[in-house]
Amino acid sequence: MENHPELLRAIVLCLLSSFCIGKRRRSPYRHCLNAIRLFALVGTLLVLPGTISSAQSTQESTTRSGLNAVDPQLERRVETLLEKMTLEEKIGQLVQYSAGQPTGPGTGRSNYEDMIARGQIGSLFNVVDPRQINAYQHIAVEKSRLHIPILFGLDVIHGFRTEFPIPLGLASTWDPTIVERASRVAATEAAADGIRWTFSPMVDIARDARWGRMAEGAGEDPFLGSAMSAAYVRGYQGAHLDAADSIAACAKHFVGYGAAEGGRDYNTTEISEHTLREFYLPPFHAAVEAGTASLMSAFNSLNGIPSSANPFTLKQVLRREWGFKGLVVSDWNSIGELIPHGIATDGATAARKAFDAGVDMDMVSSSYHDHLQQLVSSGQITRSAIDEAVRRVLRVKFALGLFDHSFVDEASAPKALFHPESIALARTAAERSFVLLKNANGLLPLSKGTENVAVIGPLGDDSSYPNGAPPEAGPRSSFTAAIAELLGQEHVARYRGTGILDGTDEEIAAAVAGAQKSDIVVLTLGESPEMSGEAASRAHLGLPGRQQELLEAIVKTGKPVVLILFSGRPLTVPWAFDHVPAVMAAWLPGISGGPALARTLFGEVNPSGKLVVSWPRAVGQEPLYYNALATGRPPGEIDLTRPPADVESRYVSRYIDEPNSPQFPFGYGQSYTSFSYGPTTISNTRLSAAELNSGLKRPGHTVIVAEAEVRNTGARPGDEIVELYIRLRGTSTAQPIRMLKGFQTISMAAGESKRVKFELPADALAIWNDHNQLAAEPSQLTVWISPDSTRGTPAEAEIVK
Ligand code: BGC
Repeated sequence: MENHPELLRAIVLCLLSSFCIGKRRRSPYRHCLNAIRLFALVGTLLVLPGTISSAQSTQESTTRSGLNAVDPQLERRVETLLEKMTLEEKIGQLVQYSAGQPTGPGTGRSNYEDMIARGQIGSLFNVVDPRQINAYQHIAVEKSRLHIPILFGLDVIHGFRTEFPIPLGLASTWDPTIVERASRVAATEAAADGIRWTFSPMVDIARDARWGRMAEGAGEDPFLGSAMSAAYVRGYQGAHLDAADSIAACAKHFVGYGAAEGGRDYNTTEISEHTLREFYLPPFHAAVEAGTASLMSAFNSLNGIPSSANPFTLKQVLRREWGFKGLVVSDWNSIGELIPHGIATDGATAARKAFDAGVDMDMVSSSYHDHLQQLVSSGQITRSAIDEAVRRVLRVKFALGLFDHSFVDEASAPKALFHPESIALARTAAERSFVLLKNANGLLPLSKGTENVAVIGPLGDDSSYPNGAPPEAGPRSSFTAAIAELLGQEHVARYRGTGILDGTDEEIAAAVAGAQKSDIVVLTLGESPEMSGEAASRAHLGLPGRQQELLEAIVKTGKPVVLILFSGRPLTVPWAFDHVPAVMAAWLPGISGGPALARTLFGEVNPSGKLVVSWPRAVGQEPLYYNALATGRPPGEIDLTRPPADVESRYVSRYIDEPNSPQFPFGYGQSYTSFSYGPTTISNTRLSAAELNSGLKRPGHTVIVAEAEVRNTGARPGDEIVELYIRLRGTSTAQPIRMLKGFQTISMAAGESKRVKFELPADALAIWNDHNQLAAEPSQLTVWISPDSTRGTPAEAEIVK
């Protein structure tokens, strides 16, 4: 076996990690984590060779650093410093401002130098020039009384300078190893620049494609989201937080932000405690377990209480249940926004409510700077509560080694950027992120002998910079140029056809004429980067501007068309799925997206990505997610493509004008080869709830083994993401029609078969019951091993008392 040493290492790490988990404070969320760890191990052990090695690094989560373990020496340094601090200096540590490109409404301050010298600022962000970072740091370390260094932060979301695919694309790889390696590169580049804190990962569950920030997360599933969340934290924080190339992670936005009503950013959320615990909290808990140094409190109100003033989530769940020792920072001005939310009518009340709820640091609102002193002197906030918050900030600063190495080496900062290995990793990540949605008659891959390819559409050059990349964006290669490199320049013609939002009749006509001269058209349509992410909610999810018109005009030429969709979310383009033979979701693929796409289209790479969000047919279906409850009137076998014709087909949970099902389900993605799945088999058909509940105390202990034969039935080698789902019926709370509980990627030669095996721990079968307790209950268990969330043969078992 090629990777024998790795295998051994995985076993050792797994044993170590189970040991560590056993010793650590037990938490109700460990079920998700333990299942992830277990599947990771199973992936490594059972289907090697050929398993892509995402598994073993998942094991490292619990052996990595972070703030989970108490370091007595560090605690002593914190206490020694704390004793010397005045109240004003303490409050200063709880204050953060943006000193660069704003990422929200302005902070209203600019006298940072003066404030730093007085010890009134603990952290600055959005400063990216290492000289400026050093200049501020010199003031903090040399001019302030106690020489406490500033912690510099930034939204390093999918790479610092080497741009990786957006997180939604990274998650579509279903490969935590790729995510961890990409975050490692991001950390190395950012740290060399002097940025030691990233506001990432965004681990919000996103069920509504209207919400633009779906682009920034790992989609709709808590199990996959937890695996990705931990991978980001490991990647950013590395083996030791105080290594020069480590940065502190910040899991955001705590919590429920992704459930914004109507998909409109910053909007209200209503999430029951049950749903919160079952779906929204697990990825945050995974980040905490992986040792994240910080968490960000969200903008949204949650069940009437703004998340940045919510003691239930910030104190009860985060501190008491999970034992989180890191720092909580507010989101941008989210303390100030307690006033428009309507739970405070003045700044002092806003500051008090946020602080009391457990927000340690105030991002930009100035509320803590302006009011904490007075709140302490009036006795509304205790000195010991202030000390506790300051400890959390200092702990992170000491853990990062900022007191010992406060400055960045300005000369060597650029040397960390754009390493060839980083660019190569960005290409691999992009290649693995593409999801092949449709490939009628095997149109793809295209032949490298194709004489005339027309690349048409506004995104055919660089989808991140449709109007041209600035020099600091690094060595990028456009999609059209990458195709030309493969086929020869003379075989490729480029037509814009239309802009993303604008366009003229003449341009469309020129593109149609170009298509007519070609053998094949590659259409590059979708959204600009500004159309997803923060403050980019959309009420319409079709192709923007005149792109639909262009698409129809090109298809009308009768030429074979391959459509590449660039977007930060799924787009509702049913016409395209009906009329275009091949469609690929490319998301926003980053710095190496051009070559990655060219290689994929022309068969140097076989796509393997799968959807991490349900792809809607129509906006009216949103929010749309696979792990939904059945309702009391599921439509069953009724044909939902026809309007209801009788009582049976009408009075069910349905639309009268659209099927309930998505265009493509969660977990779906095609390959240039094909895979068949044999029946799911399980090791036992009768389990005891009592034993499962005692098994909860033995994390990682297998209670049931599920297996299926997977065969590569096509003519090419390929990677297949194999998914395991369960359903529980007869429980005290209604459970989703399916829940992901395992996944592994296997590589298979043409014609090869593999028996894929998953070992389920007790945690995987435990649910949040009608008392909001995590427990296994007597119920009917169904297990599927399948290529997506709708297929697979079920295996049935019973959980008795
Ligand atoms: C966003 C956060 C981000 C912060 C700092 C806010 O508007 O919601 O995700 O980290 O700005 O840029």
